[in-house]
Amino acid sequence: MVIEVELHTQGLLFDRRPADVIVAVDVSERQHAERELRRRSQDLARSNADLEQFASVAAHDLQEPLRMIDGHLHVILNNHSQGLGPRARQHLAFVVDAAARLRDMVRGVLVYARVPAHAAAFAPVDSAAAAWEALGFLRHAVDQSGASVSIVDLPKVNADFNQLRQLFQNLIGNAIKFAGGARPEVALRAEPWTDGCWRFTVSDQGIGIPAHQRERVFGLFQRLDNQIDGCGIGLATCRRIVERHGGRIWIEDGDHGTTVTFTLPGPTVVAKQAHAAESGGDYRA
Ligand SMILES: Nc1ncnc2c1ncn2[C@@H]1O[C@H](COP(=O)(O)OP(=O)(O)O)[C@@H](O)[C@H]1O
Ligand SMILES: [Mg+2]
Repeated sequence: MVIEVELHTQGLLFDRRPADVIVAVDVSERQHAERELRRRSQDLARSNADLEQFASVAAHDLQEPLRMIDGHLHVILNNHSQGLGPRARQHLAFVVDAAARLRDMVRGVLVYARVPAHAAAFAPVDSAAAAWEALGFLRHAVDQSGASVSIVDLPKVNADFNQLRQLFQNLIGNAIKFAGGARPEVALRAEPWTDGCWRFTVSDQGIGIPAHQRERVFGLFQRLDNQIDGCGIGLATCRRIVERHGGRIWIEDGDHGTTVTFTLPGPTVVAKQAHAAESGGDYRA
């Protein structure tokens, strides 16, 4: 049997004569545990990469037959539906609806799978600009619902601009969609957090999420209400984006509406990271 030991020596006087104390610590178990941990994290990284590639390829290849279905459905609708009876037309409407849902799901999975692959380098970006651009993408939903969205004093952060815009778009989109019939009121705020990070909140006064579901909704395809349109990929994508930036995202406790909170590193973290890289040190936000 091989034992791995760490030796520590210390010089001292013993009976007024110089002596060495040598302590041998058996570190076999610790070394074994460290090797096992390294092996497991390599396995995990490999299977994550396989999964990403699988999801991306599958979603991409599914788009081609979907385009065919869509195209032919529209030919039937535009050129041949007059000859169909009311029941056949109703069935056709169901197929059109299902095809549109499937298209949204495939697009959503593609966006989710490509969060790491389509990543740009992080840079200091204006998070207010990302939020305004997200609002531009949501103009139709904002106009239709009459939503009021307030964006107050958002800071510069160290981020990938497009992913930050996607994050705001998903969260503001949810706040508008789950307003429960009332005029949506959405507020985006940020305040300084620890270690040069910022803490953002996106709050609404809508239908809320029960306390015991607040973690579940971040899972892929997890939805609480099937009457409202959606695929259940939005919050899972948000979590992936925030975690890629070294932050955390969660739903705040509260009795009214929903407040989603996430953290992101500020530009000072970049400066510290750059300084640490130059001096060969390590810096963690
Ligand atoms: N702001 C919100 N208010 C109430 N419920 C929400 C809110 N955001 C998310 N949810 C719940 O979490 C689920 C998952 O959200 P998401 O992943 O964005 O999927 P989708 O929007 O496609 O339903 C939603 O279906 C909804 O039940
Ligand atoms: Mg959503």
